[in-house]
Amino acid sequence: MNHIRPRRNRRSAGIRKMVRETFLQPQQLIYPLFVADHDSYANPIKSLPGQAQLGFQETFREIEESLKLGINSFVLFPVVEESLKDKIASYSYSDDNFYLRLIQEIKQKFPQAVLMSDVAMDPYSSDGHDGLVKDGKILNDPTLPILEKMSVAQAQAGIDIIGPSDMMDGRVGSIREALDTQGFEEVAIMSYTAKYASAYYGPFRDALDSAPKDGDKKTYQMDPANINEAYREAQLDEDEGADMLMVKPALCYLDIINRLKEFSHLPISAYNVSGEYAMIKAAAQNGWLDEKAAMTEMLLSIRRAGADTILTYFAKDYAKLYQEGYTQH
Ligand code: PBG
Repeated sequence: MNHIRPRRNRRSAGIRKMVRETFLQPQQLIYPLFVADHDSYANPIKSLPGQAQLGFQETFREIEESLKLGINSFVLFPVVEESLKDKIASYSYSDDNFYLRLIQEIKQKFPQAVLMSDVAMDPYSSDGHDGLVKDGKILNDPTLPILEKMSVAQAQAGIDIIGPSDMMDGRVGSIREALDTQGFEEVAIMSYTAKYASAYYGPFRDALDSAPKDGDKKTYQMDPANINEAYREAQLDEDEGADMLMVKPALCYLDIINRLKEFSHLPISAYNVSGEYAMIKAAAQNGWLDEKAAMTEMLLSIRRAGADTILTYFAKDYAKLYQEGYTQH
């Protein structure tokens, strides 16, 4: 009989706690919120149980509650009326844009909150694509000035971190330059570095009504089969001045998170996307999975893979369990 027994280190809760390697704290989470142009409004999103399109008052309340739970960081996604969408996403940087006004108001009310934006044309585009569409093609270089204007407008509103999610080539560099030229050298960029063309974005596109009107996003988002281009994108984003790198989605791409963590010295984020959240919620509603256990295991695995921060719709649920001590067992 072998005298080596790994089970000794798992024998009691106390010993297990002592040798535990991975921890996830609420301050490492970034909570995505869908915001809409209403004073008071909450429109539940069917395919994202527990999440809703929120008006200004509801957004303030959600942020206040989250801060109390130890969540400091938020990423905001705008729900834009169909009538305001056009080919060039002009509403994204227009003076009467509610999203920009909301950013300003949140920063006034909660200066300690870290606010991140989304930069891509899709929520504002009548084509539902992240870039400018011409003859069925997504144009790269003509999209960049639009992303620059959007980023500068968000910086003017007081955003802390710009989040380019569009996957156009060269966008981190051109956004960085535009920000610096306008005096916003302190505004950071968290680049969606390795963003895959994924089926798991479905519920998010329902939430914003932002699905592409024609075609798919495969000429700009990455092929789920590939690893090498994640390294290429990471190198480019670093060289162009990104402050943080993101892998998206998280669960099917834990290997990519792990590799980029080894490759780069920048903080690595992972986006636990809408479909990953919806899967657990749906299974739990059917009684097929233990929601708390499945959620904490999922988030922990993303952290274990190497993510320093996680964008997740579970942020509040997790932070509540953390406060109760559930996640420490
Ligand atoms: C838009 C954007 C998407 C997500 C974040 N920003 C959707 C897409 O690329 O189609 C998805 C997030 C999620 O599924 O939770 N550029």
